[in-house]
Formats: sequence, structure tokens, C-alpha cells
Amino acid sequence: MLLEGRRALVTGGSSGIGRATALRLAEEGARVAVNYFSEQERSDAEAVASQIDPAGTRAYAVQADVGAEADVVRMIGECRDRFGGLDILVNNAGIEKQAPTLEMPLDLWERILRTNLTGAFLCLREAGKVMAAQRQGVIVNMSSVHEFIPWPGFAHYCASKGGLKLLTETVAREWARLGIRVLSIAPGAIATPINSFVLDDAEARHRVEGEIPLGRFGRPEEIAAAVVWAASDQAGYVTGTTLVVDGGMSTYPKFS
Ligand code: NAI
Ligand code: BGC
Repeated sequence: MLLEGRRALVTGGSSGIGRATALRLAEEGARVAVNYFSEQERSDAEAVASQIDPAGTRAYAVQADVGAEADVVRMIGECRDRFGGLDILVNNAGIEKQAPTLEMPLDLWERILRTNLTGAFLCLREAGKVMAAQRQGVIVNMSSVHEFIPWPGFAHYCASKGGLKLLTETVAREWARLGIRVLSIAPGAIATPINSFVLDDAEARHRVEGEIPLGRFGRPEEIAAAVVWAASDQAGYVTGTTLVVDGGMSTYPKFS
């Protein structure tokens, strides 16, 4: 097992990549706090936690809106108290909603940035305080190929992921001497609820699959495997960079 005894928190752990990551971290020996956003996601998050450990010792579900500072401070404090520290933060929570930029309402722009970028910052800052006191920790930010591939209709999302890229790189430099590694994973198109608008539309799905050299959507477990490696000592010399896991999508020249 790669992560025996490690203490982890996964944001947005009730579904998709976050759910698969929480389960896989636990399989590798970590204790896992499974964050969920609201009452609507509570039972899914609790199901993930009890799949890991029905007794609630090795896993528990914790509500927090990652964009709300008080929620994040509470969540990380609780995690530190329950587990006696925090070794791995997976900043996974994220949202998207297509909107042409000429018609993009400010509140939509702010909503996406608040969750995807400010949320990642708040969790990283609070987790960083715990990790700095321990002189060790790993932060894995769930970015996207859209930290470097422009995506018409998703300027807010691309700005959030592009911001995450430089947040990762900058903080990795700041915290390297504290024993904290900070890196990003950039998935391509993965079959999760965030993509239901494409997965439920045969034509759109076919079009996206045509943009992926491996010819298919990725599975959440394929991203979880990368997170586990990135968080483990096997990646002990990896910080301040992005690991792309995209079936080759970023090599495709006709992306639109
Ligand atoms: P998903 O929709 O299944 O998961 C997103 C999770 O974030 C949900 O559990 C949701 O409840 C949670 N969330 C949303 N707002 C939140 C908030 N304010 N506080 C706490 N949690 C919140 O979708 P998926 O695909 O698993 O997305 C996970 C991450 O992966 C996101 O950051 C997304 O941008 C990123 N990603 C996904 C790709 C894909 O193709 N599925 C590709 C590249 C990146
Ligand atoms: C988005 C997905 C999209 C993928 C590839 C991700 O960041 O969340 O909706 O399929 O990038 O374009």
C-alpha cells in the first residue's frame, strides 16, 4: 500500500473523480475525510465514507462549501482534530456551466471562480497551516486540460483552471522548504456528472470522443490512480507542476 497511515481530505468527494479518489486513497491505506457541498450530496458522501469504513474510524463525511471561509476553517480544523493531522489535501471540488462570454452574467463568472479557484485557495491555505506545523504534506489540485487549452463558452472555467496552474506553481515554491509538495493533475474528458450534458447526447459524445486520441472518455478511477501516485512518496521529487491525464486530448490540434 502506498499511503499507509496517511490522513487525507478530498473536497467534492460525493461524486465523480472525488468519490473515486476517496475510495482509492483508502484502498492504499489512508484515512479519508469526504467533503460534500450541501444537504443534497450528504447521503452520497456518507455512502462513500461507510464503504471505506462503516465504523467511521477510517473515514467520515464532512459538509463544507469550499468557497466559504468559515466552512473551510471548520472543516480543516475538524479533520486535524479527528485524524491528529493532515497529510494529503485533494482540492477536487469544481463546477462548470457553459455561457458565451458576451452574455456571461457576472454572478455566473463569480460563482465559478469562487468554487474552482477561491475554494482551492482557502482549502490549500488552511491545510498548509497544518502541514507546515508537521513539516510535511502534499496538496493535489484538480485542474484540467483547460489550464492550457482555451475552451470557447467556458472563459470563466478556463480562467479558474489557468489561475489554479499558477497558484500551484507559486505555492509549490513558497512551501517547498516547509516539506510541502503542491502539484496539479489535469484530466481530459472523464465520464462524470459534470459531463452529463455531453454524455447524455450521443452526437456530442461522439464529437468529443473524436477529439481524444485514445477514442474514449476517461474513467474517474484513472484519475484517482494518478492522485494516489502524486500523493505518495513515489512522487517525492514532484512539485510545482501539472500531470496531464487526458487520453492524449492535449495533443489534438483541432480541439474546439
Ligand atoms: P462532479 O460534478 O462529479 O464533481 C464535482 C464535485 O464538486 C461534486 O461532488 C460537487 O458537489 C462538488 N462541489 C461543487 N461545488 C462545491 C462547493 N462549493 N464546495 C464543495 N464541493 C463542491 O464532476 P467531476 O468531473 O468529478 O469534477 C471534479 C473535478 O475535476 C472538478 O474540479 C473538475 O473541474 C475537474 N475536471 C473534471 C473533468 C471531467 O471531464 N470530468 C476534466 C477536467 C477536470
Ligand atoms: C471539463 C469537462 C471536459 C474536459 C475536456 C474538463 O475540465 O470539466 O467538461 O469534458 O475538461 O474538455
